[in-house]
Amino acid sequence: MKAERQADPVRVTERFDFGWRFLLGDAEGAGQEHFDDSAWRTLDLPHDWSVEGEFSADHPAGGDGAYLPAGIGWYRKRFILPEHSNGRHVEVRFDGVYMNSEVWINGHYLGKRPNGYIGFHYDLTPYLHSDGRSNTLAVRADNSEQPGSRWYTGSGIYRHVWLIRTGAARLDNWGVHVTTPDVSASLGTAKVTVNVVNELGTGRYASLRTDIVDADGTVAASKTAGAFLPDLGTYAMSVDLQVNDPKLWSEVSPYLYTLRTSLYIDDRLADEMETPFGFRAIAFDADRGFMVNGARVKLNGVCLHHDGGCVGAAVPERVWERRLQLLKEMGCNAIRMSHNPPSPELLDLCDRMGFFVMDEAFDEWTHSKAKSGSAAYGYYKYFDEWWERDLTDMLRRDRNHPSIIMWSVGNEIPEQSQPAGPGLLKRLMDVCRREDPTRPVTLACDNIGSDINAATDEFLELLDVVGYNYVNRWRGRTETFYAEDRVRYPQMKMIGSEHSSVRSTRADYRLSGPLTADTRSDEAAAWRNPTYYTGMIRAERLWKFTRMHDYVAGDFMWTGIDYLGEARWPNKSSSAGVIDLCGFPKDGYYFYKSQWTAEPMIHPFPHWNWEGREGQIIPVLCYTNCDTVELFVNGKSFGVKSCEFPLQGMTKRYGHYDKPFVHATTSDLHLAWDVPYEPGVLRFVGTRDGKEVCVAERETTGTPVRLELETDRGTLAADGTDAAHVTVRLTDARGRLVPAADCSVSFSVQGAGTLIGVDNGDPASRESFKSNTRKTYGGLCLAIVQAGLHPGTVVIRAEAEGLEAAEATVRVQ
Ligand code: GAL
Repeated sequence: MKAERQADPVRVTERFDFGWRFLLGDAEGAGQEHFDDSAWRTLDLPHDWSVEGEFSADHPAGGDGAYLPAGIGWYRKRFILPEHSNGRHVEVRFDGVYMNSEVWINGHYLGKRPNGYIGFHYDLTPYLHSDGRSNTLAVRADNSEQPGSRWYTGSGIYRHVWLIRTGAARLDNWGVHVTTPDVSASLGTAKVTVNVVNELGTGRYASLRTDIVDADGTVAASKTAGAFLPDLGTYAMSVDLQVNDPKLWSEVSPYLYTLRTSLYIDDRLADEMETPFGFRAIAFDADRGFMVNGARVKLNGVCLHHDGGCVGAAVPERVWERRLQLLKEMGCNAIRMSHNPPSPELLDLCDRMGFFVMDEAFDEWTHSKAKSGSAAYGYYKYFDEWWERDLTDMLRRDRNHPSIIMWSVGNEIPEQSQPAGPGLLKRLMDVCRREDPTRPVTLACDNIGSDINAATDEFLELLDVVGYNYVNRWRGRTETFYAEDRVRYPQMKMIGSEHSSVRSTRADYRLSGPLTADTRSDEAAAWRNPTYYTGMIRAERLWKFTRMHDYVAGDFMWTGIDYLGEARWPNKSSSAGVIDLCGFPKDGYYFYKSQWTAEPMIHPFPHWNWEGREGQIIPVLCYTNCDTVELFVNGKSFGVKSCEFPLQGMTKRYGHYDKPFVHATTSDLHLAWDVPYEPGVLRFVGTRDGKEVCVAERETTGTPVRLELETDRGTLAADGTDAAHVTVRLTDARGRLVPAADCSVSFSVQGAGTLIGVDNGDPASRESFKSNTRKTYGGLCLAIVQAGLHPGTVVIRAEAEGLEAAEATVRVQ
């Protein structure tokens, strides 16, 4: 085809994050074009005003909203279109505004979106000045009805905004849909459907060229389709492409192709889009669980909420990338986006890094989940009017991501137990199938077989895959729910959609439970607030079952990372994560690592600084994937221990074991020793097949003498979004982390970047995330530094009274 390219790119997608004016509060008439906003604050997006506030028990969002303020805010941005914009089609896209956003362009009201997690577009074309005069975009976000959510939402334009300029004939927003219905090692078929918009005013001949480009930039397949677009309107065009010997996408090798879609009108290039996608075949099987490209894979999953700790809901992509790297290193291969569509960047990262994703739409349908005042103004208020639009938009936005393996239409929806439930579920599932016939639909059910309000059979039978939340919640049935249900419903496909919810904090090494004279009889308190040596036992038991039974496709533990909200004073965040708000792993992280990774590891805990408790028994534990671990305390053996799971039997002949036989010393998935405290060194020696493969130590440290800084990256991109994580360690004279002598650290950040948040991972710490001081917790705290738009150097300095200060440098280029 003869392609005559225009001088300007046919499609310009501009990050529209910079130079907004912001007002915290309401302002009469601020949607109008010439409203005076000169006294408003200037800032760049993404922006979350809630996280900038102080923690207070008086804020109406309460503990569910992390004791942070909510309210109403306004944003305004002035911009001048480039000269050649006359006749161009101009749209704005918001990736997420929390919530009840209303948008005006030059005083014209464009519309409202109650749902704060949904991406949306507005056509600005008819109202724009393209003659060099400035235009004004105004946004009002209203998050004032509180309590409005069971977890922290953030407030404002907390995701990116884009300005998109195209022609009057163009590819529609979210208009490219690619599926890979037939995939084998020798052939991959991509089915592509493209919505083409004709606003040229006359009928035109369109041709659509589709190229599949591999990761090296080589075109692996091409096809062109033609159609006459008779009139104003949107037209669907379809092509099938085939790639020989495709490189398959999986969690271990997440190979991405790019689909390049080029629209030609009368032989002229009119629009072009690039869509990353992957060739992969996914299936759920009632006997074998989950399969990717024909191979069975257990879903080692975690649930995640959308906040990023001290940055609130406005999470730079790099913050997610670091978090996902940590999860990868833990052996996690799957993420449940609980309980709302995530940011587009997070899904892109999952595509690139190889995570399977359960993309979830709702936490409420028609019924409020408000309990004793929480979330009284939840999504149920909007569901009837908005669910179909919101669900459709989520599916259209997300359906090209190879990482997504299933849609979840809800979490713990009360309708699972009600007569109206099946009818409603069917309507939601029909929309999923209409927009994407290739993925199964699930729902995270918490009342399967429960004593009260059990989920109805009719409801469960509709689901493609049944999500089990907390199979171990009801009485003593624990995980045998799965086994019993498998007998009752042999065809049912089962996934653990949410489990565990073990509260723990990184530096909490209390030696006894929370039982006091007042709470002695309160079993719930012990359940909610376990000690370091009992906490993971429920999770261990459940994982044993999940691992041994292929028909349970996997499990999404609650939660991979701590999240803001769903807390009770004095805490402001949930501590259910195995990684804290800073991204520092807790001990539970290493439990999963011991089960989900193969490289020999031992994670011992607690620390070994117990001054004043000499001679007292301290439970010493480790998580390991070694066959055996021997503990030496100051050189003296405390014995060899072994989990022996999966159980090891005789092979080849009676009395023969493939591996040197060691009696299992526990039926748990951790090893434990009772050690009378004496200062010194705990040395853990791990073996496999009788050979030493791994050694770990815990030592009694000296007192703190200095701060040490560690940055996760030496160089950042000068793009106004890239970020470095600076970890502060409190160390003794020999450079060892001192676990129990916390102190306050003050930061100064100079040069080509800014400090955007500080934290220490302690849920009960209510120092502001936006201040430049932070107390360490368990010897650690964190500062996040964001690059500006100009190259240079950022110098980060950390000081604490009586200690040697530390400095780190990051380049921005
Ligand atoms: C679940 C719920 C989650 C979270 C969790 C806390 O029942 O789905 O959103 O509230 O409990 O343990």
